[in-house]
Amino acid sequence: MGRPHFHLAWFLSRGYSPKGWRQDWSGDTAETWMSPDLFVDLARGMERACFDYMILEDSSHVPYKYQGSHDTYLKYAAATPKMDPAVLVPYLAQATKHVGLVPTLSTTEYQPYMLARLVNTLDHATQGRVGWNMVTGSSDHGAQNYGMDAQYPHDERYDRADEFAEIVTQLWESWDPDAVVLDRDTPMFADGKKVHPIHYQGKYYKCRGPLNAPRSPQVRPVLCQAGGSPRGQAFAGRWADTIIASADTVEQMKAFRMGVRERAMAAGRDPDGIKVLFLAYPIVDTSMEAARDRRARERQEHIDHLDMHLALMSTTGGIDFSQFDLDEPLPALTTNGHQSTVARYQGKTTRQLALANAIKSGIDFTGTVDHVASVMEETMQEVGGDGFLLFNGEFTRRYIMEITDGLVPELKRRGLTRTGYSHKHFRDNLMEF
Ligand SMILES: Cc1cc2nc3c(=O)[nH]c(=O)nc-3n(C[C@H](O)[C@H](O)[C@H](O)COP(=O)(O)O)c2cc1C
Repeated sequence: MGRPHFHLAWFLSRGYSPKGWRQDWSGDTAETWMSPDLFVDLARGMERACFDYMILEDSSHVPYKYQGSHDTYLKYAAATPKMDPAVLVPYLAQATKHVGLVPTLSTTEYQPYMLARLVNTLDHATQGRVGWNMVTGSSDHGAQNYGMDAQYPHDERYDRADEFAEIVTQLWESWDPDAVVLDRDTPMFADGKKVHPIHYQGKYYKCRGPLNAPRSPQVRPVLCQAGGSPRGQAFAGRWADTIIASADTVEQMKAFRMGVRERAMAAGRDPDGIKVLFLAYPIVDTSMEAARDRRARERQEHIDHLDMHLALMSTTGGIDFSQFDLDEPLPALTTNGHQSTVARYQGKTTRQLALANAIKSGIDFTGTVDHVASVMEETMQEVGGDGFLLFNGEFTRRYIMEITDGLVPELKRRGLTRTGYSHKHFRDNLMEF
């Protein structure tokens, strides 16, 4: 069998939060989601299916963008409540051996030293299996929980994040590889000449260093980014090992990936060193009709609860979408939130957008295992690589099994995805092909 063609990862959309609490098949998770069990089952399933990694989404506030109130968010458990993903990571690591774990940690909410220390500790504790989803945060409401009145301006957030990432990566390397001596007689635990302050002084941050712990197994845990705007893409081109991306068509996917690869080359990087993974939301069932019926039922559920999706769009867009007529085309909008997302809204109605947001429009991955595997195969052949980021914000244990024990075994049989892990560390597995 040849080399696998693409990577698989799982986007834990809406993070460490209630999952599918209004759905059939969700068991008792509405009451028990605070325990790691459901997420442990997901991680174990992912490892059976040989996924590369799980990203744990996060935000750190109770939103109130929609209608100036938190009521709609709380009514649906939409974007809140949400617990700290960094706490979940050790539980997932204990239950697995290979799968990579990538908590989202925001550069406007953490201090660089604190984040460097947390991720270094997690990398030691998991023996080289963590990454960092390097988001800047975009919500004013999040910023207001951390002593600010509003978020920094969009591009400045990325300027700050560049400095932030410089400090973090320097701290991770502030102990030389041979700094730990462990000579009991001298005695010398670590050699002072091989541990270096970083004395970083930037425009936004300063940090003395060194980190108060040795290099971790991966030294530089896997850096993950979702960069859509030109400034976001420049940031990703500089730092990211893997980019999580959303695109509606094969052409958009192809163009986005080519753009990333060109920017990587312009920055003197090997384009194969950045794995671009595209969001995909498959629904598989035993027949095409059964899968289509489930997709249609989901669509109807979203139509019945459009306010939930308008509220979610309002937080990501940084705009209160309740102010617009549902069926009038939107004017050109500016935002300090997710610019690349809002740039695509002009001329569409909020009803169309809320529904598209809800049904995760784009390539249709609905059908039997055989059908969906074929669509994935054809899509990746056309795009050129690097893989898919599966997601479903409202999953149940049934859904986990349909993907990890239904769909992915077929991808493996076709030689499309990995059938085992060759390396100990997450980074080495990710860079293997
Ligand atoms: C797949 C995906 C996952 C994301 N996950 C998070 C997240 O967990 N937390 C967060 O604050 N932002 C998240 N974002 C937002 C991005 O980090 C970024 O802020 C957003 O795409 C806006 O960037 P832009 O203004 O450069 O387009 C995510 C974006 C995408 C596409």
